[in-house]
Amino acid sequence: MHKVIFDTDPGVDDAMALLFLHRHPEIDLVGITTTVGNAPIDITTRNALFLAQAWSIEAPIAQGFGEKFDAGRRNGPWPTFIHGDNGLGNISIPETISRKADPRAAHQFIIDTVRANPGEITLVAVGRMTNLALALKADPEIATLVKDVVIMGGAFDVPGNVTPTAEANIHGDPEAADLVLTAPWRVTVVGLDVTMQTVMMRSDLAKLAKAGGAHVTLLNDLSQFYIDFYNHRVGDGMVIHDSCACVYVVRPDLFKTRSGAMRVVCGGIADGMTIQKPDVKTFPPGEWDGHPSQSACIGIDADAVLGLIRSVLVEGKAA
Ligand code: BDR
Ligand code: CA
Repeated sequence: MHKVIFDTDPGVDDAMALLFLHRHPEIDLVGITTTVGNAPIDITTRNALFLAQAWSIEAPIAQGFGEKFDAGRRNGPWPTFIHGDNGLGNISIPETISRKADPRAAHQFIIDTVRANPGEITLVAVGRMTNLALALKADPEIATLVKDVVIMGGAFDVPGNVTPTAEANIHGDPEAADLVLTAPWRVTVVGLDVTMQTVMMRSDLAKLAKAGGAHVTLLNDLSQFYIDFYNHRVGDGMVIHDSCACVYVVRPDLFKTRSGAMRVVCGGIADGMTIQKPDVKTFPPGEWDGHPSQSACIGIDADAVLGLIRSVLVEGKAA
């Protein structure tokens, strides 16, 4: 069983990833922490509470930090043209939600849960890395107590999606991401190199909704706006970025990885760019030295990943 804390900014593709984690029989979702990215923190937290209530997810939900790790940076405009004004494709969401957030800040929830389960927790982070960075800053030792960190973010050998060089989750808080990638824990980065190859077609999702009942119908409804955005980019379907990171936890064999130290460019025209120094290449002394080798996903069996997601969403089976 994989004990997972899901750090997320729901977010349409985040919603699919959440349902996958909830339904996968080998995943024990022990907590959800909210972060910023697709919408501001009050909205992503409200969305997490709403989805947890709708899908009967019992895991505690802790609200994350709504600003950036570097106090000198300010939040920019939100990607409402991708995820809708409410972060969930503009579906109707009740004004009051009975599920309430855990009283702790997300980074404190992470610290407490990791310390209570030494060596057992996998952190799956699919929004900005702010909460993970705050947890490391407050309690650096947790890096040695976490089992694994798997993040959706970054772009190594392909262009970014918010600038020619940077992917949204990293660009949103570059200093936080640099701290997370250079900390002494094991990180796997599931970035645009592989997620852009993984597209769930609109017609597929509609079929899953028919077969999967109310849970998947809600997912299908909230995904329509996002599919409309991706439509002319990838055909009539949606890039399922965040679910790819969740699949990695249970099926790493479906990915090809490259090992090497990673840094994030902080500032300038390449702000938020992720750069890996592959272990197999030698360079003169530089900024990558002395940092741990992390894994970058550079290949994916997209059909198998999509097949697993389909079966887990509909049947809760890892067929
Ligand atoms: C990432 O940014 C967000 O829009 C998505 O939820 C995903 O985590 C893709 O760049
Ligand atoms: Ca996300």
